[in-house]
Amino acid sequence: PTERAALKDRIRALLKEKNAVMVSHFYVHPDLQDLAEETGGLVSDSLEMARFGRDHAAQTLVVSGVKFMGETSKILSPHKTVLMPDLDATCSLDLGCPVDEFSAFCDQHPDRTVVVYANTSAAVKARADWVVTSSCALDIVRALKADGQKILWAPDRHLGGYIQRETGADMVMWNGACIVHDEFKAFELEALKREHPLAKVLVHPESPADVVALADAVGSTSGILNAARDMDASEFIVATDNGMLHKLRTLFPHKRFIEAPTAGNSATCKSCAHCPWMAMNGLAGLAQVLESGSNAIHVDPALIPRARQPIDRMLAFTA
Ligand code: 13P
Ligand code: SF4
Repeated sequence: PTERAALKDRIRALLKEKNAVMVSHFYVHPDLQDLAEETGGLVSDSLEMARFGRDHAAQTLVVSGVKFMGETSKILSPHKTVLMPDLDATCSLDLGCPVDEFSAFCDQHPDRTVVVYANTSAAVKARADWVVTSSCALDIVRALKADGQKILWAPDRHLGGYIQRETGADMVMWNGACIVHDEFKAFELEALKREHPLAKVLVHPESPADVVALADAVGSTSGILNAARDMDASEFIVATDNGMLHKLRTLFPHKRFIEAPTAGNSATCKSCAHCPWMAMNGLAGLAQVLESGSNAIHVDPALIPRARQPIDRMLAFTA
């Protein structure tokens, strides 16, 4: 604990010294979430992380999360330095959607509006008409459908399927998944619901359809937070990365949050739902990159103007 406190002090001092601001995702270690908030930064979902980084005056952004989040910040602020505690922190959705194959898929469907999830590489974004996150995907696809557009969706098949069921939009889909949310199990969730009959079920839409079907509220990480705040219940079962529980428990100490089961039964799988790439973010790595200025995110400058357009569209839509 002393070493942890010392690292936190060092990070606070370095952030000041370097005029840097810290932006953390809800899934990273609680220490990194708390530090971001204490030092004038932000902990939030991927949409608000992007907006905050773009709008903040600091010329150095420290992004605790995964690579696509750092890249999005860099695309929106190419002149800022964007540092990440670990540059190998990626995402199964990003890995599962290589740009060459994705481009070929787009070429097969030239009549469709290309909508990609933020969890993709800069190169994939540069092929898209729209970038969306899970907090705005439904509204954006609904608006595109109302405008008569047919959609090419990538890469998360569960989020895409959820949007298709909700909007009835004409969508062709890439076959990607989040390795964390894909593991939530409906059968075990039903059993857990029987054990906690008054609990409301909060589900991130990267989860499989049969899990989403059991939800009382479906939403992005900030959507889950808002539902926990607004719903008249004292017990919740939460189907998302368990990093989320820190914020939920801190903000709503009188409510009870239970992890949704990922495999087997709820008794044997207590903390399976944690993203291995989010877990690569730590205090020691963060202190080191702030000290040395290493681990700066690089995005090919030739890609930036094209990748920026669909992100700007999303930010304007949600402003
Ligand atoms: P949010 O946009 O809901 O924060 O989700 C990002 C993510 O990676 C979920 O797994
Ligand atoms: Fe990607 Fe899933 Fe990790 Fe989110 S939780 S960063 S979608 S692998």
